[in-house]
Amino acid sequence: MELPFAESWKIKMVEPIRKSTREEREQWIREAHYNVFQLRSEQVYIDCITDSGTGAMSDRQWAAMMLGDESYAGAKSFFHLKEVINRLTGFEYVIPTHQGRAAENVLFSHLVKEGDVVPGNSHFDTTKGHIESRKATALDCTIDEAKDTQLELPFKGNVDPAKLEKALAEHAENIPFIIVTITNNTAGGQPVSMQNLREVRAIADRYGKRVVLDSARFAENAYFIKTREEGYSDRSIKEIVAEMFSLADGMTMSAKKDGIVNMGGFIATRHEDWYEGAKRFCIPFEGYLTYGGMNGRDMEALAVGLDENTEFDNLDTRIRQVQYLAARLDEFGIPYQRPAGGHAIFVDASKILTNVPKEEFPAQTLTIELYLEAGIRGCEIGYILADRDPVTRENRFGGLDLLRLCVPRRVYTNNHMDVIAVALKNVFDRREEITRGVRIAWEAELMRHFTVKLERL
Ligand code: F0G
Repeated sequence: MELPFAESWKIKMVEPIRKSTREEREQWIREAHYNVFQLRSEQVYIDCITDSGTGAMSDRQWAAMMLGDESYAGAKSFFHLKEVINRLTGFEYVIPTHQGRAAENVLFSHLVKEGDVVPGNSHFDTTKGHIESRKATALDCTIDEAKDTQLELPFKGNVDPAKLEKALAEHAENIPFIIVTITNNTAGGQPVSMQNLREVRAIADRYGKRVVLDSARFAENAYFIKTREEGYSDRSIKEIVAEMFSLADGMTMSAKKDGIVNMGGFIATRHEDWYEGAKRFCIPFEGYLTYGGMNGRDMEALAVGLDENTEFDNLDTRIRQVQYLAARLDEFGIPYQRPAGGHAIFVDASKILTNVPKEEFPAQTLTIELYLEAGIRGCEIGYILADRDPVTRENRFGGLDLLRLCVPRRVYTNNHMDVIAVALKNVFDRREEITRGVRIAWEAELMRHFTVKLERL
């Protein structure tokens, strides 16, 4: 008999978590104005709000923390981190930052100016924010198939080469670089194929443009290339990673995801001019060049985390857990963005709460119902997150309305996945009875989902 699959690690330290009663949760979510960002973590049983900074470090990472060199300038820890990044990516120049959006801020301060156009595949909110706040445009060139949640494609995060070509033909003058997000978070943690990265490179070369990889989940992307793309099954994750970055000019990194640290990020590039330009912004925004917003100990932990998480077994354990959760949802017929993503399941609320009008925010309503059911905290990636149109001030109902259930790395067991699946099934079973959603009582002008105050209808 074939042995079953099991995790590639064992547990050395645990953190107790607590269940609550439905009465408690009803009170807490009311006090939080029906916004899960306003809950305290102790009011949450299983926390799937993000996979960012919520992973569990390994014993080797904790041991490395003790070797942190906290020198202001020229810290050993910086050079350890730099060596690992050089080795994995081939990028010579490295600037540490306190997290991913800080890397965007520093690099884009040098590269993006008013009137520019930055094409890419579903830019993450902060990436888009750092482009739009400079009065430039983030042009989405993701393949159309990504919008159909029920379509199974191996690389649903891809850039559409025709859309990219058109963008370059029309705006070449104003395009400072192309950005490709691996994996494509907004489209459901969907990967980008090596073939697609090669196509992007070829188009960029034709127009003399450079390519940045938003690399928050680059290792998960490499796992999907290994397991899904022809010709890569015998290649190691590290070889695939090296090939991915060989097709780019630089990267911004939120190390809180595939670096498996709680805080950190960096910029890396092969071009001295980008490095020189970004340096000028690192010092005032982040800090001196050999720490740029990170502690020495955190750079040591990140150096180990990057190395560990570009090994197959670690990624295999991680992605299979997300796929396990997806398989449980399949058993219950619950619709989500198919196939399962690398870091999360994106439940298609518009196909579940069909009696809740879109003006009453179905995905947010589902988020609240799942919390009430079992204390599980997901997050809405839907109409509230989409904000209002900057010109008409109308809500934007054009995109998908999803409940994202992130799986933190090395934190929960498959028993927790079972609880999530069954809790969602219980809500799913009474979906017809849920006919009313929420109404906005107060909202911020931008990025409203973090602070919005809602009323239950
Ligand atoms: N790029 C991508 C693709 C991301 O998913 C994120 C963060 C960032 C950049 C920004 O990095 O948070 O370190 O400043 N995503 C988190 C999430 C917040 O929940 O998906 P950061």
